Amino acid sequence: MLNFDFQNKTKIIFGKDTENRVGQELKIYGKKVLLHFGGGSIKKYGLYDKVLHSLQEAGIVVVELGGVEPNPKLSLVNKGIEICKSENIDSILAVGGGSVIDSAKAIGVGAKYDGDVWDFCLGKAEVKDTLPVGVILTIPAAGSESSSGSVITKEEGLYKKAFGSPLIRPKFAILNPEITFTLPKYQTAAGIVDMMAHIMERYFTNEQNVDLTDRLCEGTLKAIIDNASTVLETPDDYDARAEIMWASTIAHNDLLSTGRMGDWASHNIEHELSGIYDMTHGAGLAIIFPAWMKYVYKHDLSRFIQFATRVWDVPMSFDDPQWTALEGINRMESFFKSLGMPTTLKDAGITEDRYEEMAKKATEFGPQGNFIKLEKDDIVNIYKLAK
Ligand code: NZQ
Ligand code: ZN
Repeated sequence: MLNFDFQNKTKIIFGKDTENRVGQELKIYGKKVLLHFGGGSIKKYGLYDKVLHSLQEAGIVVVELGGVEPNPKLSLVNKGIEICKSENIDSILAVGGGSVIDSAKAIGVGAKYDGDVWDFCLGKAEVKDTLPVGVILTIPAAGSESSSGSVITKEEGLYKKAFGSPLIRPKFAILNPEITFTLPKYQTAAGIVDMMAHIMERYFTNEQNVDLTDRLCEGTLKAIIDNASTVLETPDDYDARAEIMWASTIAHNDLLSTGRMGDWASHNIEHELSGIYDMTHGAGLAIIFPAWMKYVYKHDLSRFIQFATRVWDVPMSFDDPQWTALEGINRMESFFKSLGMPTTLKDAGITEDRYEEMAKKATEFGPQGNFIKLEKDDIVNIYKLAK
């Protein structure tokens, strides 16, 4: 096990009606908030009114910035930074999913920085300060509600890049599973794939003695798999929604990374799909993860056999251990299909003539991954396996 520091300062407020506590939670961070949200689901389903009421009751002045798109864009981040500076905003409240939260995080650091906020995504600047960010989560998926990362797309050149710092973890995140009852099936499914991917990025490590975190990863994956069909078939099943919502946070709050080095190649390879084609991140991962696994499984066959037998209940074949490993990958791919996710680039309308360009872009700042370092040609091969 590697040495590690673990601190996740995000306060999680979980359960029914908890959104009504937002004013009380936020007021310790000042009197003026930027209320940041997406394309309108919060207004359509009544959350917006409840939030405004709670903020007003706590005496908080609200400045609004809606319109965050999935795969959030740099131009809106810059607009938010301008507002924060000109209006002397004290804190930011993100009401939405990963896109809204990531946009809020970028606005928060940009408001405390004199240069171009894109510098953080290019690694040219380190986060030193941020406005405090609070969250009301509406879709379990990205785990941004307590993660140390933010992913932003620069429209010019369609670059989708991440930056991170423990300082950008939200101060609090309110998680009411009832708010997720209105999610379309496709978003629910994409969220499930994304949270599973966050666990698997951590699971496929070269560290050998990480039994506790292996078991935590496997257990969390199993809980997600067990509850997935219920949330798709019965969207208002509170108990299943609650399991899935808590799993999305656990998957990405870094507890499951302790003592091990994660891989993250699949995420970075996927970012080319959601950056260039604006596809849903989780759907892109459903295409890339099985292909990545097929490309790398021989690097540590026993880890893939462990994954297959413990997570997907594949019987161990002592005559053909490779079969066991591959059967685990196949069962995962079939599971993604059963959720209604695409599993090939063709399903997503991405043709072979773009593979070189996407692989080049994915490796522009160096090779990807830690389990195995992947160069441009490896990534082309992974896209071919995902054809
Ligand atoms: O915009 P509105 O109208 O709110 O609709 C949203 C959006 O269209 C809708 N939605 C959200 N909650 C709803 C709802 N519709 C009905 N009822 C509700 N309760 O869902 C759509 C998708 O929202 P989005 O925020 O884009 O989803 P998600 O949470 O999957 O976030 C994806 C983004 O997070 C990034 C991804 O790359 C992508 O840009 N990630 C961020 C990470 C992080 N910061 O740690 C890690 C992840 O790996 C990921 O990369
Ligand atoms: Zn993700």
